[in-house]
Amino acid sequence: MFKTVFKQYKVKSTSPDLSDVVSFDEIDDKPKEDSIAQRLSFNNEITDLPTFPGLKTPRAWQTFVLKDHPGLLVIRNPFTDHGQRYWIARCLRDYPRAPNIVNLNARLFDESVRSDWWKELQECKDPTERQRIKAAMRWTTLGYHHDWDTKVYNELSKSPFPQDLSRLCQVFASYLGYHDFKSEAAIVNYYPLGSSLSGHTDHSEPNHLAPLFSFSFGQTAIFLIGGRTLDEKPTAIYLKSGDVLVMSGESRLCYHAVPRIIQTDESLASLPNETALENSNLVDNDLFEQVRDSNYWNPFSSYIADSRININVRQVLHPGDLKLN
Ligand code: OGA
Ligand code: MN
Repeated sequence: MFKTVFKQYKVKSTSPDLSDVVSFDEIDDKPKEDSIAQRLSFNNEITDLPTFPGLKTPRAWQTFVLKDHPGLLVIRNPFTDHGQRYWIARCLRDYPRAPNIVNLNARLFDESVRSDWWKELQECKDPTERQRIKAAMRWTTLGYHHDWDTKVYNELSKSPFPQDLSRLCQVFASYLGYHDFKSEAAIVNYYPLGSSLSGHTDHSEPNHLAPLFSFSFGQTAIFLIGGRTLDEKPTAIYLKSGDVLVMSGESRLCYHAVPRIIQTDESLASLPNETALENSNLVDNDLFEQVRDSNYWNPFSSYIADSRININVRQVLHPGDLKLN
């Protein structure tokens, strides 16, 4: 069932029927008995959440659940356009740098590209080579590095987890009542139009009770969420730029996939004069300022015009553990 639906959306030749894809934009506040998705209301705790640069006030966030997929939540774009610009720039300029690990193959790319992909891409003048470098970037790993072959984390393969991303996740974790969440491993996925991610479960983490946070930026994904086996029919939802998907509870170990990226126009151009950051140590303040400038933002903007970026953050260890055993 899962694979059949995956293929329906992945088809290259024809345009797939999108009428069953759940769009959270079309769900209103009034709960309907029979609807597949419903909006959750939070009223009390959220007033104590710390403010975070680039996030709207939690009172304005819209959180959705899917009736048939308990534990799966979507917080519909809680970011300001400015905030989205910041995270996109982090994923392109900074996160692919050494000591983080990228997919770029040593036989195909020089050490300079493999250790600072974005810088080399910007400096490359040859259009064919630029396109080759751009399209080759598919993932980078942070913190405990995901091992794509063994699917086992290793204490010896680990780099520092970015503090800004860890603090961002803490805000969402606290919002949902997970006050002890620790960001310990992340995969940043880069999806050029036409790429996909096939059905899988994320079970490498010894801790399956902690939620998984997944951030979408740039072009829209069709995301499939299924059950614990491939026999169950998945539900298709849109994940748009800025959306935060949370896989918690029963959905944490469910099959999921991204069969297709859909190009949509979005400009991230709404940048009202925010009050200057009073040297908050939550984000890279220089970058936060730089991305407001249209010249600085331009190369990032052209990257996401035909790509999607996903940041997929997990806690690895059990609470209180300091390392893998
Ligand atoms: C993953 C993953 C989903 C996405 O990285 O494990 O499932 O939305 N990503 O890109
Ligand atoms: Mn996954």
